Amino acid sequence: MPQSRQIVVHPDVRLHTVSRYLYGHFAEHLGRCIYEGIWVGEDSPIENEGGIRLDTVRALKELELPVLRWPGGCFADNYHWMDGIGPRSERPRRHNLWWNQPETNEFGTDEFAAFCRMIGAEPYICLNVGSGTVEEARSWVEYCNSSQPTDLVRLRRDNGSPEPHNVKFWGIGNENWGCGGNLRPEHYADLYRRFATYVRGTAGADARLIACGSHPGIPEWDERFLAAMNGALHLVDYIALHIYSGGGTSDTEFADEDYYGLIAAIDVMDRNIARAAGLAKACDPQEHRIGLVLDEWGTWYKEATVPTGLCQQNTMRDALFTAAGFHCFHRHADRLFMTNMAQTVNVLQALVLTQGPEMIVTPTYHVYEMFRPHRDGRLVACEVDGPTLSLPGGGERGAISASATRSEDGGGLFLSVVNLDLENAITATVRVVGEGEWRVAQVRRLAGQDIRSHNTFEEPEAVRPEAIRVESEAPLETMEFPARSVTTIRLDRAG
Ligand code: AHR
Repeated sequence: MPQSRQIVVHPDVRLHTVSRYLYGHFAEHLGRCIYEGIWVGEDSPIENEGGIRLDTVRALKELELPVLRWPGGCFADNYHWMDGIGPRSERPRRHNLWWNQPETNEFGTDEFAAFCRMIGAEPYICLNVGSGTVEEARSWVEYCNSSQPTDLVRLRRDNGSPEPHNVKFWGIGNENWGCGGNLRPEHYADLYRRFATYVRGTAGADARLIACGSHPGIPEWDERFLAAMNGALHLVDYIALHIYSGGGTSDTEFADEDYYGLIAAIDVMDRNIARAAGLAKACDPQEHRIGLVLDEWGTWYKEATVPTGLCQQNTMRDALFTAAGFHCFHRHADRLFMTNMAQTVNVLQALVLTQGPEMIVTPTYHVYEMFRPHRDGRLVACEVDGPTLSLPGGGERGAISASATRSEDGGGLFLSVVNLDLENAITATVRVVGEGEWRVAQVRRLAGQDIRSHNTFEEPEAVRPEAIRVESEAPLETMEFPARSVTTIRLDRAG
């Protein structure tokens, strides 16, 4: 039996802006993400431009990802950037310590910058603090961004990149409480002060410096780090959280209970972001705002192990988690500036999967694509009156997750609605209240046959969004949101 409820959107009650960077991504030298997923080499039979595979480029370009974080992850604190520049045949071969695989260094800084240009994303580079030096980090910044007549700039030119790469986002290490050195927050803060001083000095005032923050198991890290930064907090533009969800469950062979467990994990993200946001606000130095980024998030199932290169499948469960996760991020966007899902191709909650010359996109990809109009919009008030779901662990949450944004010019309104209930369709009255009238311009839906539905190389379009026919120029009224579905509704001003 469908249950009757309502969603009320208030386009005139404008809240904060939803930064486009909330829709960022992350690609690491891990498994088949970079090598095979992005880089195939110039001699590959797979269609490529300068060694970068073009099917992946086309798929990602379509998403207009705003930013891409690289080269890690744990790999970052064991990466020496000079290994990855110059003639490829002369680059050293190394061992990728954390992911136990060879590293040819064929894909380095200039290839990463080229890839970002091809897909239209801004680069975000994570520096090596754990095993690197301040001078190594500083010189990487100079190589990337300087136009001065220096030897490093000449080197970049000789390597085929006459123009600076203009990298704005610089991470000062990754997970320095773990693979990035197993440091105490106070020691990390002392290193951060040194690294940030020279990185900022070289990159200039426009650079944005990102500090390693906590994961949900060590919330005290943030507080101790920020306390130890007292007097130099102006060097911290953002503090970066990492939150993975879904651990211990299977990618496709999961129970309904596992699905609801993953939905409960959105509340874990919510609480951790709220906690860190409160802390950052309390620590803001004069005339400086410490923002938050979540530069690793997403699902991590039991199939994703080091021997499998952290590869896992991606179902409608991932899509619903992503969509409701974005709604959570929208609510926190007054402090939360960027998120980077892990990882772009073939690793963890990937957007794209490849198998030799073949490539498919995942249900998660479709959510990124469907939610594009939210980017840089103003969040507007959206009230939901709907049924509740009981979650494992005793919690509860609304079965409907909804979020609405209004374009900066005020002319477009975009509403996304997720029905998280696995069994029940929800029929809701959707009302837009306030000045003027709004008409439905487009409705799209992602549902799949089942919560376990996913795309395969044999059936690449098993899950894909469909356009829902609406009477042209119809006002919004009652809509049915099928069980386990993501719906987007674009509205334009009437008249
Ligand atoms: O994304 C996989 C790994 O997860 C990253 O390298 C690390 O930062 C995190 O622990």
